[in-house]
Amino acid sequence: MSNTNNNIESVLVENRVFPPDARALQGARISGMPAYEALCAEAAADFEGFWARQAKEHVVWTQPFTRTLDESNAPFYQWFDDGELNVSANCLDKHMGTPVEHKTAIVFEADDGTVTKISYRDLLGRVSQFANVLKAEGIQKGDRVVIYMPMTIEGVIAMQACARIGATHSVVFGGFSAKALQERIIDAGAVAVITANYQLRGGKELPLKAIVDEGIALGGCESIKTVLVYERTLSDWKRVEGRDKSFTEALDALEGQSHECAPVPVGAEHPLFILYTSGSTGKPKGVQHASGGYLLWAKLTMDWTFDLRPDDVFWCTADIGWITGHTYVAYGPLAAGATQVIFEGIPTFPHAGRFWQMIEQHKVSIFYTAPTAIRSLIKAAESDEKVHPKNWDLSSLRILGSVGEPINPEAWMWYHRNIGHEKCPIVDTFWQTETGGHVITPLPGATPLVPGSCTLPLPGIMAAIVDETGKDLPHGAGGMLVIKRPWPSMIRTIWNDPERFKKSYFPEEMGGTIYLAGDGAVRSEDRGYFRITGRIDDVLNVSGHRLGTMEIESALVAKTDLVAEAAVVGRPDDVTGEAVCAFVVLKRGRPTSDEEARKIAAELRSWVAKEIGPIAKPKDIRFGENLPKTRSGKIMRRLLRSIAKGEAITQDTSTLENPAILEQLGQAY
Ligand code: WT7
Repeated sequence: MSNTNNNIESVLVENRVFPPDARALQGARISGMPAYEALCAEAAADFEGFWARQAKEHVVWTQPFTRTLDESNAPFYQWFDDGELNVSANCLDKHMGTPVEHKTAIVFEADDGTVTKISYRDLLGRVSQFANVLKAEGIQKGDRVVIYMPMTIEGVIAMQACARIGATHSVVFGGFSAKALQERIIDAGAVAVITANYQLRGGKELPLKAIVDEGIALGGCESIKTVLVYERTLSDWKRVEGRDKSFTEALDALEGQSHECAPVPVGAEHPLFILYTSGSTGKPKGVQHASGGYLLWAKLTMDWTFDLRPDDVFWCTADIGWITGHTYVAYGPLAAGATQVIFEGIPTFPHAGRFWQMIEQHKVSIFYTAPTAIRSLIKAAESDEKVHPKNWDLSSLRILGSVGEPINPEAWMWYHRNIGHEKCPIVDTFWQTETGGHVITPLPGATPLVPGSCTLPLPGIMAAIVDETGKDLPHGAGGMLVIKRPWPSMIRTIWNDPERFKKSYFPEEMGGTIYLAGDGAVRSEDRGYFRITGRIDDVLNVSGHRLGTMEIESALVAKTDLVAEAAVVGRPDDVTGEAVCAFVVLKRGRPTSDEEARKIAAELRSWVAKEIGPIAKPKDIRFGENLPKTRSGKIMRRLLRSIAKGEAITQDTSTLENPAILEQLGQAY
């Protein structure tokens, strides 16, 4: 919790308020603040009764639950635990025989612009067939399956098929390295990998299957019996006999057999998935989510936060490799019976107007993206009229969303004016991999909006801001964000590491049962609105991607021929939110020329890309003959943060072992 103090300082006051207009209020599922307040009051008065009612209303149970919340083994909370359901049946089978059956489930736009549509009925067929493939490969309920796929209909099918047979998936983002993949395979004890030969991004063909081979070859992955390969492109891929099969081969092998696959009921607490995310140590955490509570949240927040209506076209731009792509691509929209757009490519290819063009073409009504994308598209629009959103008809839009990092008020205003044409509420949704879905967010038909604020907790979310001892702080005072009562979609444990789960999220000093989010926050004095001020641990947020400083440090020092010591901090960046800055001590001493420094910096960047993935590459690298340390040998990270920002040094440096190195660290490569 090294920079809590920074967060307390930054209490910027934002006075603009945008209440929902008549269009937003009209017919909203939660219309007006009194409706929101009534739900909050209901949750406060009868917490379990409230959640039981929601779970009955939004989830189809094959075996109804009788227990709502079991707190006997807190913080290992259990929800609806004697109930049974199947998550895939809640996303697909549930709609059969309803008007949703023949509705378009997914509008897929490929990198090259090709559009494919699939109805709910056809998606059920594809998921069932693929679930049969998994069964034929011997994969069973409770097995772990790693998914390393591009953004395609097939990626969603792979996840849904796992859910259908009760296998626990662990999706690894296609930008992660072979080493990162190997670590996740080992930690999860996965029996199979589902991948594609290649992925297409920005007109380029990038390998996936070859990275799977490389990851497995690093060793320790003996648990893997099967690798299933979706042939996304015509390019060849290398086959390991007896282990690898293309989707087509695997499906052909089932020729003549039933295309149906009965969904396997699982207990509400059955692990639906594990998703690895960065924490404050070098090792990523396998965030484990349950089935019942998670599915409830995915469905409920589609209704509450996005006010989903039957004729909406929903588009969440997140990749399935992140939690946003789980809850608001693979599960939420399907559970809610929405038509959704899935996009394979990148926002700047073939031009930076691609998002706006797609909104026009597919008549998107709810658009959900990250501040980093907005900021980069603002830049592009400002430098090139041709990609300015005014060139496209965005009148289909009804609601805009933001996710992943704080949205700065300037970007918020641009989004509001240029994309929403001042008619669309912006839901700035605060949540985390661990929360499973939105926890603090405006409701489009109720909450008056304040740019840069995620406003108020959802009904039943007991969010608060406290000091180190867990004591409530008054409005206006910065502190730590906590959630005082459990909620259905919360993280259940860290896979293989329940002790770390307790230590990371439920600090003893606060009594051991209160969820610590890891973010600093402040509530406004007038409305009590929450504003997130940033992480209070050693986690960075780069373009909405979560990275641990320790992970990057470990990667750097693993370059043993070059690096003696490394420290990583974040600094603010106009486009990516935060940028990675590395301070490096080389074994051979400081580079003697700019040219040498640049060469080594380039070598270290590609090394980090190989160890973790390109997203973790340090933007700035600074070389010193040592790192600034106190006499007791502690790295002065606050000082490093000031240097990284290019700030004047105000800290007391008299305790520095060697003050001369401050000078050396002034130059970034
Ligand atoms: C961290 C969680 C939320 C899913 C995608 C990221 C930051 C997220 C907001 C927001 C301010 C936000 C927090 C959080 N964050 N949304 N609306 N306003 N900050 O999930 O990778 O688990 O990262 O992202 O710092 O702790 P994640």
